[in-house]
Amino acid sequence: MSSQTEQTKHVTSPTSASASASASASASASASASIDKSAPAPKGISTPHESATLHVAGEATYIDDIPELAGTLYAALGLSERAHADISNIDLSEVEAFPGVVAVIQAADIPGDNQCGPIIKDDPILADGTVQYVGQPIFIVVADSIDIARKASRKANIDYQDLTANITTADARAADEKVIPPMHLSRGEAAQALENAPHRLSASFSVGGQDHFYLEGQISYALPTEDGGIYLHCSTQHPTEMQHLVSHALNIPDNQVTVEIRRMGGGFGGKESQSALFACAASIAAHKLNRPVKLRLDRDDDMMITGKRHGFDYHYEVGFDDYGKLLAFKLDMTLQAGFSADLSGPVAARAITHSDNAYYLEHTDIAAYCARTNTQSNTAFRGFGGPQGIIAIEHAIDSVARQLGREPADIRAANFYGTPDSDPTIRTTPYGQVIVDNVMPSLFDDILKSSDYAARRAAIREFNQSSPVLKRGIAATPVKFGISFNVPHFNQAGALVHIYTDGSVLVNHGGTEMGQGLHSKIERAVADELGIHIKHVRSTATNTSKVPNTSATAASSGTDLNGKAAQDAARQIRQKITAFLAERDGVTVDSIHFADDTVTSSEANYRFPDIIRQAYEARVQLWSDGFYSTPKIHWDASTLTGSPFYYFAYGAAVSEVIIDTLTGEMKLLQADILHDVGNSINPAIDRGQIEGAYIQGVGWLTSEELCWNEQGKLTTHAPSTYKIPAVNDYPTKFHVELFNNQNVEDSIRRSKAVGEPPLVLGMSAFFAIRDAIGNAGSDAADKTEGLARQPELNAPATPENILRAVWEFT
Ligand code: MTE
Ligand code: HPA
Ligand code: MOS
Repeated sequence: MSSQTEQTKHVTSPTSASASASASASASASASASIDKSAPAPKGISTPHESATLHVAGEATYIDDIPELAGTLYAALGLSERAHADISNIDLSEVEAFPGVVAVIQAADIPGDNQCGPIIKDDPILADGTVQYVGQPIFIVVADSIDIARKASRKANIDYQDLTANITTADARAADEKVIPPMHLSRGEAAQALENAPHRLSASFSVGGQDHFYLEGQISYALPTEDGGIYLHCSTQHPTEMQHLVSHALNIPDNQVTVEIRRMGGGFGGKESQSALFACAASIAAHKLNRPVKLRLDRDDDMMITGKRHGFDYHYEVGFDDYGKLLAFKLDMTLQAGFSADLSGPVAARAITHSDNAYYLEHTDIAAYCARTNTQSNTAFRGFGGPQGIIAIEHAIDSVARQLGREPADIRAANFYGTPDSDPTIRTTPYGQVIVDNVMPSLFDDILKSSDYAARRAAIREFNQSSPVLKRGIAATPVKFGISFNVPHFNQAGALVHIYTDGSVLVNHGGTEMGQGLHSKIERAVADELGIHIKHVRSTATNTSKVPNTSATAASSGTDLNGKAAQDAARQIRQKITAFLAERDGVTVDSIHFADDTVTSSEANYRFPDIIRQAYEARVQLWSDGFYSTPKIHWDASTLTGSPFYYFAYGAAVSEVIIDTLTGEMKLLQADILHDVGNSINPAIDRGQIEGAYIQGVGWLTSEELCWNEQGKLTTHAPSTYKIPAVNDYPTKFHVELFNNQNVEDSIRRSKAVGEPPLVLGMSAFFAIRDAIGNAGSDAADKTEGLARQPELNAPATPENILRAVWEFT
């Protein structure tokens, strides 16, 4: 890792961290799409994560660490053993008779809706009559211990009448089984342009899904409250959605259900909608028995029950000229949706709106088909379809370069969208959004230079010529990622800020903490707004009874939305204190400043806690709510056009790998990343997000392989068979730099969202492997360093898949 001095090298120059500077910086939201030249926002500071000490000491409280109430019971779920079947008979007598079992609950026992689907109501909490995948929950066992509940859950005797099951997307597509209508976007005349293009190529390939593998599995702890309500501790990215689904399942109003989450041990999208089944199951049991019920899944059940990143199958045709300029791109994507719709619609929409990545495509035609397979219902996963859309065009560009025998990095650069000074036509996306701040050409150039790309390409060529078995490869890939929920009304947030009379500050907002450092960034925004040290600000658990009607912490927009809302709340209190002081001391409002734990006017200096005490005694309100909704965005879901994103985040990575062409093994040798987080609020946290996302992206595309057998059973449902990156998969050399690029939009402190975009950079490792495979075999040196070859490599590029691709050439 780089030193502290390197860490801040690319970060915007320091300015006053006073509240007045941030106030002026954010007063400039303009409706125009032009670049805003307002003063720099305050510089970020690399304070530790707000829970760092607790994390490393093992003292951070996750849901299973909450002291249990007397009388707590434990639940487990009984799962389907068939992919698609009618249940002809269900005999749970052995489950009920198991010593220590308190209750067994089936669909008919649910007082309200047996439903936990986020958009379309096709997700039963418990299968009722028909099962749709192996692993689908059919009943809940409640017992005196977790061990008893789990053992008893395996004692069911169920008779099934098998129905036709579509396990693969190919089967589902052949049967025209889909969870939502197909989606389609086109601009220009793709068919005609393909026909006229001097060169064409087409390809089919597939990219597998990915299990979230959050360290803390799904868990809910439901406490019955007086008068038939529920207080639910739930590991979720979406407390409000959990509240709604629990209230529907119990047939009680929303105001009877409170959902709380202090932190998750990782979510990665897997707890956006899919925490609901467990939230509902625990609540149903607690409500029925009037006792606290905890439902904590073991890893195997978690992987068997929950949906994952959507695997995609692609077919594309691309037309291009002698210089590798793309003239037409026609893409067909099939998503493995699983048995229900879940979030497949917005995932497909994000895939479509990212299938341009950083490239201008005049004539393009993009289709997405969400195939209904009898497998877990796939869901949000870091990037939310964006990475899957992007890899298609990256594959096409890589293949164009190979067909022309040209350097892929050059072909990429030749196709980038126009910079801000260029004709708007060449910076308009296929869905109609004009890109106002495209920094990709200079960012990409910077990373090629700082990673010494050209020299390393030459060294790799030399190495490969003298190394018959081990082959190296390198690739540079860009990411342009749209920031905002692609459902416009989700782009809102609320917050509460309280200043207590000792001057300490408590902030509560609608976002959830899953390790990403959201609370740390929001504490910073509040501290700077009030001109106090961050140690005086504390974030508390997300709670639906404090800030209601929240959106999921997702789409990387947690800080953008909740940070603005919290800043708004803090600003209102500051303005009240300012007005009080101005009147009392007879000074002008403009002469009052909040900085360094001190409030200064033309007349006097006050320690922050002192002025708070005085304001309290003068009966000034020292707490406030705050609200934010993202400006400018609009989206027509029926035509897939509009300006769905407030802005774009940019990045690029260079990865170098070495493969063994006899065993298929791969080692990541070096990764260099330059990523745009705008004006970073906390550079250390942002770097952590970039590193983690990159490695998670590499895991997705190289080692994490989901396999279902012919009966539709997921056979990779534990770390023994499903390989996430481990510490020795970390690249030997790893350089992460932040690109100096204050957000042109009025985002919180001019920062940019960081959670998801850098996952896409893991793609550079995949294309580096493809590059290395192109060099396999003894005759590769004659073939323009392997570039003329088109290795047929599906993702994940496991050793087996690498070997398969190598065998084409050897
Ligand atoms: N980082 C950690 N450590 N753990 C997580 O679960 N989830 C990612 C990303 N980074 C995640 C993470 C996903 S999928 C998203 S959408 C964002 O964090 C959500 O948080 P944010 O909007 O506050 O960035
Ligand atoms: N990301 C995550 N969750 C979502 C989105 C998105 O873009 N749109 C709707 N739900
Ligand atoms: Mo992230 S996939 O939007 O939770």
